Amino acid sequence: MKLFIDTANIDEIKKAHSYGVLDGVTTNPTLLSKEKNDPVSQLKKICEVVKGPVSAEVMSQHAEGMVKEAKPLAEISPNIVIKIPCTIEGLMAAKELTSLGVKTNLTLCFSSSQALLVAKAGAAFVSPFVGRLDDISTEGMDLVSDIKLIYSNYSISTEIIVASIRHPIHFLESARIGADIATVPFSVIEKLMKHPLTDIGIKRFVDDWDRLNKELNN
Ligand code: G3P
Repeated sequence: MKLFIDTANIDEIKKAHSYGVLDGVTTNPTLLSKEKNDPVSQLKKICEVVKGPVSAEVMSQHAEGMVKEAKPLAEISPNIVIKIPCTIEGLMAAKELTSLGVKTNLTLCFSSSQALLVAKAGAAFVSPFVGRLDDISTEGMDLVSDIKLIYSNYSISTEIIVASIRHPIHFLESARIGADIATVPFSVIEKLMKHPLTDIGIKRFVDDWDRLNKELNN
């Protein structure tokens, strides 16, 4: 499973990139608004660090406007992917952008029927939002399993990006289901490698080693 980071913060992206396990970045208008910078220059900075797919979202709610906005975004860098909401207008925009050779990521996906139509429109990626479904007492991961089943039935190549991940269990479940990608906030990425028994084990090795050295030097 590929690991994307879900942030527009350049320090977080640089840190996660330095770990050597980062495959891409997803941003959205909320994440970019936190950076207090012109979104285009922020996206440029991100694309200088990460060579994998970087999702940049359009704000128009009409297909024509989405396509118009997408063109300059796609020119920022060849690895920019245009993020478009899962609406009928989004579907039409995705179809057109795909025919122009621009990759799309259909976001705010909350149903399998949306995911199936998104694939038919030729989208490169679909982003089911698991945390936001959990927030309304609906199992977010069930949606991912269902999309995976449907895509497998028809050998669909649209990649599933599990989004709105809130904790390591979302990440693990994504891998169990066989999602293509998990996009994970920086704070959750750090938690993925944290284990108290690892820390306790390191401390014990260091203490025992120091004790041996002291004994040998006395
Ligand atoms: O990738 C989508 C993500 O940014 C949304 O996360 O936590 O706002 O539901 P959240």
